[in-house]
Amino acid sequence: MKGLILSGGRGTRLRPLTYTSAKQLVPVANKPVLFFGIESLVAAGITELGIVVGDTRAEIEAAVGDGSRFGARVTYLEQDAPRGLAHAVMIAEEFMAGEDFVMYLGDNLIAGGITGLVEEFKQRRPNAMILLAEVPNPQQFGVAELEEDNGDGPVRVKRLVEKPPQPRSNLALVGVYLFDRNIFDSVKRIQPSARGELEITDAIQDLIDRGFEVHPHKVQGWWKDTGKLDDMLEANRIVLDTMPLTGAGSARLDAASRIEGRVELGAGVELIDAKVRGPVIVGAGTRLEHAFIGPYTSIGESCTLAHCEVENSIILADSQIRDVDRRIDGSLIGRGVRIVKSKLKPRAHRFMLGDNSEVEIV
Ligand code: TTP
Repeated sequence: MKGLILSGGRGTRLRPLTYTSAKQLVPVANKPVLFFGIESLVAAGITELGIVVGDTRAEIEAAVGDGSRFGARVTYLEQDAPRGLAHAVMIAEEFMAGEDFVMYLGDNLIAGGITGLVEEFKQRRPNAMILLAEVPNPQQFGVAELEEDNGDGPVRVKRLVEKPPQPRSNLALVGVYLFDRNIFDSVKRIQPSARGELEITDAIQDLIDRGFEVHPHKVQGWWKDTGKLDDMLEANRIVLDTMPLTGAGSARLDAASRIEGRVELGAGVELIDAKVRGPVIVGAGTRLEHAFIGPYTSIGESCTLAHCEVENSIILADSQIRDVDRRIDGSLIGRGVRIVKSKLKPRAHRFMLGDNSEVEIV
């Protein structure tokens, strides 16, 4: 069995970060979201991976390389434009060479991994298996309608609808799918949807309509599509809450600094009159001066935070935050960002922000 990780796409919901970098490389607890996916495929014994890439190919390739450090072998499959999830399957046909495969959306996080799902697929041998989760707002997802469970064998998927106004169930498609080779005919048989994409839900519906077996598998534990800011912050909170953190390590603390709760401080981290209240992760070489870092914060490498308070936020590498009076909360701050207090007259806010940036001031 092979793996297909989708790491192209537009990432419009995470602009402006996605103007300059791939959304799959935005870190959760200082690890790119994409790496969690690669690791769960490898944990399920799937090491032959095709990664679908678009405009951000160079960056993804620089981060993942040939996959050897994950124990995988990675081939990059270039998609000319984000033409839909089913289009990504279409361009992977040659790479799959007739084998069964797992398709994994590169911006999804699934806590329990996918080993159970893969095992069940191997045992039951349907033509496709889809991962489903109960959600309170099925209108915003691809929704599956299942056959009645009459006790004689596995329940099948009867119908899939993309973002139905009146959903017939609360079972949403989570970003992991298993397919055998029959999906390649289906992705060629369907037409682009109203938004101009080849939809994977239409391709799976085509499998069902042609009499192939599509089985559901309910997700155990939490999952997150990290395509939006709030979901990214929630994923960061959940991962920080559940992952083991290695402690203060070789970080240098002066006598006025304090650490409370679980933390992971990288090599060369320096605390000067700083308080860190976990769960918090701080990348190597970051300096915290006269600062408070509150729960659920991930700070990348080589940042400086001075005379400021931050919590429940993700700050990427090489950023500086200095002399900010109010606490920074619920924020996603990109690479190399500077937030500082100006001494110039007139006293005014001064911004240089990328398109689609968001700043909230109180
Ligand atoms: P989405 O989050 O559905 O799409 P998107 O990346 O275009 O984001 P947005 O809606 O914010 O503009 O995509 C899910 C995953 O699949 C994500 O990792 C990107 C990837 N993808 C591709 O690789 N090729 C595609 O054609 C599409 C649509 C998505």
